Amino acid sequence: MSDTKSEHEATTEAVRPEDLLTAARSVYANAYAPYSQYSVAAAVLADNGKVYTGCNVENAVYPLTICAERAAIFSAVSDGARRVKAVAVVTANAGAPCGSCRQVMREFGDDDMPVFLADLAGNTTRYTLAELLPQSFSVDDLPAK
Ligand code: THU
Repeated sequence: MSDTKSEHEATTEAVRPEDLLTAARSVYANAYAPYSQYSVAAAVLADNGKVYTGCNVENAVYPLTICAERAAIFSAVSDGARRVKAVAVVTANAGAPCGSCRQVMREFGDDDMPVFLADLAGNTTRYTLAELLPQSFSVDDLPAK
């Protein structure tokens, strides 16, 4: 851990799944979910070697809610990252990412990107993005500029 990077910014590409899950767990209590009572925490490893975290943030206007996975990815992109190499998500029941988050993962991650889903006891399942979002639509489907 470098002095110049924050607590959750690992410096190596060799971040282990457990490290990514630990980073996600560290923001689980920050989830703002007064309406659903369903807290979600996420951490993503970006291609700059940093780990970015996010949690779900709900709103009294329900559709304005942002999911944890997108919060983490948008934090990475806002910091200048452009590719995501791995995602970890922690919930009470190891719930899977919603379709919108899977599509955002597709924008910044490759088909073989690992997505680790864990519950609070640490039971973890590994998927690839292609398993979660088969036959996906991406920039590759758009006409060449
Ligand atoms: N949620 C996430 O944060 N990520 C997902 O992929 C699924 C759903 C949040 C949104 C909302 O705050 C709560 O979980 C219930 O839908």
